[in-house]
Amino acid sequence: MSEEPTDTNENSETLDNSQENEEIETVNTNQNFSFVAYNEDICIVGAKGSGKSYLANTLLQSFHGINVWVWDLNHQFHDSRSIVCHSLNELLETWKMAKRGKYILQDYNKSEEQFRKFLRAAYQTGNVVIMIDELHAYTTKMKIIKEYNDLVLSGRPRGISVISISTRPASLPNNALTNCKHVFTFRLNLESDVKFLEGWLGPEVWQVVQKNKRMKHQELDEVPEHSFYYRNMDESEGYIGKI
Ligand SMILES: Nc1ncnc2c1ncn2[C@@H]1O[C@H](COP(=O)(O)OP(=O)(O)OP(=O)(O)O)[C@@H](O)[C@H]1O
Ligand SMILES: [Mg+2]
Repeated sequence: MSEEPTDTNENSETLDNSQENEEIETVNTNQNFSFVAYNEDICIVGAKGSGKSYLANTLLQSFHGINVWVWDLNHQFHDSRSIVCHSLNELLETWKMAKRGKYILQDYNKSEEQFRKFLRAAYQTGNVVIMIDELHAYTTKMKIIKEYNDLVLSGRPRGISVISISTRPASLPNNALTNCKHVFTFRLNLESDVKFLEGWLGPEVWQVVQKNKRMKHQELDEVPEHSFYYRNMDESEGYIGKI
């Protein structure tokens, strides 16, 4: 765990800046992975059923003493230490009293308007890790949600980490990838998705496509089931891992 205080909150007037960054090193991939909550972002992409929510749940369960709000569109999250809410109001009311903890929001209202309200509330709150499952339900490359953009572009000084989860990397807003430090790519079936990711992650990412589904890089192996190609964007190369 890091003992360093958050140094990026200096310009924020509305937030309690006393909270410390928490460095998580407990996620059990087959190699080293460490995540600085309230400071770094994560993207998790992969086809349906490839293991994205399973990984996200493992991350959530490893976050001890960290504030987390999960937008759980399809009820894929479970964590005995998290409070499950069925409306944004319920989450905000509970938060107002506790001012801490982990919350899984399985909102009955799944509209874009409600999703925007959730993001706005997170932005105003600060010092929280926001996990968004099924982001592709709301954004496309052409359709960027302002509130999401605000979180990704200006969340860090407010102590906000964003964990974005999507089946379609090609529909992730560019800002999501350019600003994120950790990228987990599970199996993908569409060449167009991988071509897009190759620009960010390098040719090694072709390993997430089965050999019989790819025209390029036949020399690369394919990742086993429920495995991912992980890249820390500050490092020169990635690795294959599994939870
Ligand atoms: N590392 C793993 N070990 C064992 N089982 C796994 C692992 N990863 C995923 N699974 C299982 O595979 C199934 C699909 O995983 P998961 O729900 O995480 O997929 P997903 O990528 O979130 O899919 P979707 O896009 O449909 O939400 C689940 O039943 C899950 O328990
Ligand atoms: Mg899922």
